[in-house]
Amino acid sequence: MNQDFDQDDQAPYHLDTLAVRAGIDRTNFGEHSEPIFLTSSFVHDSAAHAAAKFAGQADGFIYSRFGNPTVRTFEERLAALEGAEDARATASGMSAIMSVLISLTKAGDHVVCSQGVFGTTIQLFTLFGRYGVETSYVPLADPAAWEAAIRPNTRMLFLETPSNPLTEVGDLKALAAIAKRHGIMLVVDNCFCTPALQRPLALGADIVVHSATKYLDGQGRVIGGAVLGSAKYVQEMLQPVVRYCGPTMSAFNAWVLSKGLETLSVRMQRHSENALRVARWLEAQPGVVRVLYPALESHPQYALARAQQRGGGAVLAFELDGADDAQRKENAWRVIDGCKLLSITANLGDVKSTITHPASTTHGRMPIEVRREAGIGEGLLRVAVGLEDPDDICTDLARGLPR
Ligand SMILES: Cc1ncc(COP(=O)(O)O)c(C=O)c1O
Repeated sequence: MNQDFDQDDQAPYHLDTLAVRAGIDRTNFGEHSEPIFLTSSFVHDSAAHAAAKFAGQADGFIYSRFGNPTVRTFEERLAALEGAEDARATASGMSAIMSVLISLTKAGDHVVCSQGVFGTTIQLFTLFGRYGVETSYVPLADPAAWEAAIRPNTRMLFLETPSNPLTEVGDLKALAAIAKRHGIMLVVDNCFCTPALQRPLALGADIVVHSATKYLDGQGRVIGGAVLGSAKYVQEMLQPVVRYCGPTMSAFNAWVLSKGLETLSVRMQRHSENALRVARWLEAQPGVVRVLYPALESHPQYALARAQQRGGGAVLAFELDGADDAQRKENAWRVIDGCKLLSITANLGDVKSTITHPASTTHGRMPIEVRREAGIGEGLLRVAVGLEDPDDICTDLARGLPR
């Protein structure tokens, strides 16, 4: 017997078990770790078998652009963690969001999106304007604004929660109720929390997208993405996009990511513990005017974050004081330049802590008034807290803070 992994209907497995076991479909060699199928195509038993597979009348892989066993292991494992009926892996987080847009919209349609999303997501929605899909932006934490922005041609609501870099929290249950009332799909980018801390589908979302590049990998090795939802959505609406547009994940990356999922829960718990320690320490530092982290009691949406997340996650932001913008920027840059341990990079989702100044990097292309209105000031820094000892992270940040 090959001992494939099957979900136990009598006693459903917990998340930590699914993370290391789900999606295993052993070959006849009886390998214990998941194999990597680096093959572009698959052979058929006969002409009739080939015809049946192509017609969808027989199961089996055909061509790795639209299906590969190693990629399938990652898809099934992530789907088990998110509580999704099905999933498709993609080459990047951006191609996951693009695939959702292609699958749900056509020229003349409209999207409502949170103002607090990753900058490239806004660029992607802007690009889709060329094909006749218009997007309106609303404040993440104001459900009434979401509802007011809905038009008869609105097809999807799109958000990240917590947001980057201000860690604002979107009320997933409230937004799901609005989406249902209007017959619209609620799409959530679950990159910051991952299913280890937040499961949007259980709170009423229809589709989850991931930049697997971040915490699903967790060690900064590969680029990848995923889309998850109902079997009907994935097989009937998303699969044609994957098959015809080819935003495919490579088998090697899928293997790395499946191994990343095995440690996801442990890592996210430790990221959350470390980030809370660093956030509390920052709150007590002179020159720091505010610390934004969803698991801090001072966070404006602390109660909501507690209700829908199992931890604060790795990302926090803090703001430095200063007489004017120039001085606030100088103070923020001094903290970055004082770091010997933290990596100066805008990426996140790594065991190594990273620090960035959003106003001059990730959000630098935004017009200054829009940036200010969004609350991203010159004194703001974002840290994605890694798995180093939190005392060492604080010591590193202290080097550039005012004494
Ligand atoms: C929240 C979020 N979504 C999507 C993306 C895009 O993912 P990728 O870089 O894997 O295309 C990123 C990348 O930083 C992100 O932070």
